[in-house]
Amino acid sequence: MQKTERFLQSGLLVQRDLGDTLEAIAKSGADAFYKGEIAEKIARAVREAGGVMTADDLGKYKTEVLEVVRGSYRGYDVLSMPPPSSGGALLIQLLNILEGYELEGGPNAPQTLHLMVEAMKRSYADRAEFFGDPAFVKVPLDRLISKDYAARLRATINRSQATPSSRIKAGITPKKESENTTHYSVIDRHGNAVAATVTLNLNFGLGLVAEGTGVLLNNELDDFALAPGVPNAFGLIGGAANAPGPGKKPLSSMSPTILLKDGKVFMVTGTPGGSTIITTVLRVISGVIDHKLGVAQAVLLPRIHHQWMPDEVRGERALEQSMPPAQWIAFETYGHKVNFFNFTIGAANSILVTPEGITGVSDPRYLGTLAAGH
Ligand code: DON
Repeated sequence: MQKTERFLQSGLLVQRDLGDTLEAIAKSGADAFYKGEIAEKIARAVREAGGVMTADDLGKYKTEVLEVVRGSYRGYDVLSMPPPSSGGALLIQLLNILEGYELEGGPNAPQTLHLMVEAMKRSYADRAEFFGDPAFVKVPLDRLISKDYAARLRATINRSQATPSSRIKAGITPKKESENTTHYSVIDRHGNAVAATVTLNLNFGLGLVAEGTGVLLNNELDDFALAPGVPNAFGLIGGAANAPGPGKKPLSSMSPTILLKDGKVFMVTGTPGGSTIITTVLRVISGVIDHKLGVAQAVLLPRIHHQWMPDEVRGERALEQSMPPAQWIAFETYGHKVNFFNFTIGAANSILVTPEGITGVSDPRYLGTLAAGH
């Protein structure tokens, strides 16, 4: 039977035993709780209830002073509890994910709630996989609370459709390396820059390795206009000017680009994406120059494309979702026919030189990474 006396006297809960315990702690400090009579009583109570605790377990308990976990949210610094709590890290991860959205329409707007819930699912999947007592497991904290990782998680969120939890795996399931064209941007400490787009055209090109060479042959012939008006794999049409012929090079859309300001490298960019390459590079450059966005924000801008034929505007689904309905109506009043893709467009790995230093972004739409060295 519980020895603790509890009296309910005219609505007042009296906890005499607890009072004694608190008094003992106040008098002798934490040891009064973790060692001696109180510890014995606690351990005994646990054992009598079928548990396995000993007073020694309590005696060994140590409180630790830990470094807070740090993040930021829309210009505010966030300091919170580190592991063994998952709280601070998950909170920062969630804020990082949400930072990429406007959350218009108020705290209870369906879109706000949807984005919050989608972020939560992903964060708690990570919690289940990665978090534990840091004395025993290595929690990849830096990565989990990084903005870059949040951007990758965000890229897995469909703004109009809940992702079933069964399809969410902890961490970013590394995207398989894509088979298509690749763009990389490089800048060295002397200010030299390289924008390189390399391509076999379609996946695995021709699907043929020249025996004994290891060289995979491309199928760039598809970049020719086979006949006037006949679309190629990217829906591009052309005529005599791009007709195939002996010794001719097919037309490309590749746009590895370097921008200079006063003769010095300002920006290095480019992307894969076939016919959408040009419009993607346009979007990134316009984001930085016209809209004064950072390079990461410019690369994250949802993409929009038109290639004359077919006569339709193509957009990433995120574009539709990031514009309030009134703006869509305004856009459609111009008479555009819009077709949204559920897949993403391009992978514009880009670099921007800013007064604060060189900043780069690996487009979260694809597997890629930033590298810096001396
Ligand atoms: O040169 C071109 O325009 C095409 N061969 C590029 C193909 C491409 O970007 C495919 N990758 N997504």
